[in-house]
Amino acid sequence: MFEVFENNESEVRSYCRKFPTVFSEAKNALLIDREGKEYIDFFAGAGAMNFGHNNPYIKQAILEYLSKDRIIHALDMYTEAKEAFLNTLNKCILNPRGLDYKVMCCGSTGANAVEAALKLSRKVKNRSNIFAFSGAFHGMSIGALSMTGDRFSRNGAGVALSNVTFMPYFNAFDDENISLDYLENVLKDDHSGIDKPAAVFLETVQAEGGINVAPIDWLKRLRKICDENDILMVVDDIQVGVGRTGNFFSFERANIVPDMVVLSKSISGFGLPMSFLLMKPEYDIFKPAEHNGTFRGNQLAFVGSIAGMEYYNDNDLSAIVRENEKIIKEHLAKNVLPLNEHLKIRGIGMIWGIDFSGIDASYALKISHRCFERGIVIELAGRNDAVLKILPPLTIEKDKLVRGLNVIAEEIAHAV
Ligand SMILES: Cc1ncc(COP(=O)(O)O)c(C=O)c1O
Repeated sequence: MFEVFENNESEVRSYCRKFPTVFSEAKNALLIDREGKEYIDFFAGAGAMNFGHNNPYIKQAILEYLSKDRIIHALDMYTEAKEAFLNTLNKCILNPRGLDYKVMCCGSTGANAVEAALKLSRKVKNRSNIFAFSGAFHGMSIGALSMTGDRFSRNGAGVALSNVTFMPYFNAFDDENISLDYLENVLKDDHSGIDKPAAVFLETVQAEGGINVAPIDWLKRLRKICDENDILMVVDDIQVGVGRTGNFFSFERANIVPDMVVLSKSISGFGLPMSFLLMKPEYDIFKPAEHNGTFRGNQLAFVGSIAGMEYYNDNDLSAIVRENEKIIKEHLAKNVLPLNEHLKIRGIGMIWGIDFSGIDASYALKISHRCFERGIVIELAGRNDAVLKILPPLTIEKDKLVRGLNVIAEEIAHAV
């Protein structure tokens, strides 16, 4: 059934092992395999499909662009598509939020924009060390991996991952203040043995790390520490940006402004490869071509991104995310938490986790398998993959959202 994949595709393949079928079509929150079986998508391309699969408004813009023989590949040359993208980003997203960022078009993956942010931070501050947080995930290229916590991925690097010091994330201790007390102390203590970093990289909500939502006060305090110590704050909004948490950017809820923001995944609107680094203008100090690449500025992704930003504003997607947040939160509190006193739920907006580590991490995998058999695609996160991660497209129809949540609750009830 999967012969050509199993015989010819590398062993490194991953998600296909958890969701073993051959997918053929997709419509909003539905994935359809070649046998015609429908799956409700609670994974949304790991956060790349916030606007749903084949979103008609975005698709129309792309089809129109394609139908007119407009330029598709242009390296980073000036194009009308890029011009319109930059104008729309300013008009729809940055200006209304009072954000003054310059835009660096990076390669096609999130990891490439993370690399750019790393290089630029080091260049701006002329320091090599970087602080990252326990539980962080920033990607698989060597620089991004050096800021990624999980040992399995790190071991794949094959070289020492250096110039990064991990600090405890807020959830490393029962009292969230301890992590930043420690970080502050490391900076203050001139015998701490830890070099002052150029930047602190963080996800305001760790997704791969197990759905850990950093408290607002913690984020504000971190911003203050960075300011007081001349350290850049870089937010990786690759998975939880573009509306996922209820605001376009995940840091808005804390009313902080990072020095740099890394964006990818859903920013292209349509699931096309694209990544950006937003930076305060004073940090725009790369020399021309100093972080170059062939695929920096996918024209179709620009077109999709423009339509995505328009769709976000025109349909008040942030209000929709808040409505869905309520549905998910109430459902989990009512139908999942009572199933076992050791279960924990965490989340914000439309990213939620059900944590089985208090019972047995292996339940999460078993339940995700059962969900798949029953037509729900749902992925795992966190230490020992103990967390079921609820991450549907923001545009999911309410009946599908509730159906998916019901199946999950039934399977948990069955298992625990
Ligand atoms: C927070 C975060 N940063 C970086 C990345 C890496 O992005 P990519 O897989 O496109 O390289 C991911 C991917 O899941 C992510 O979730």
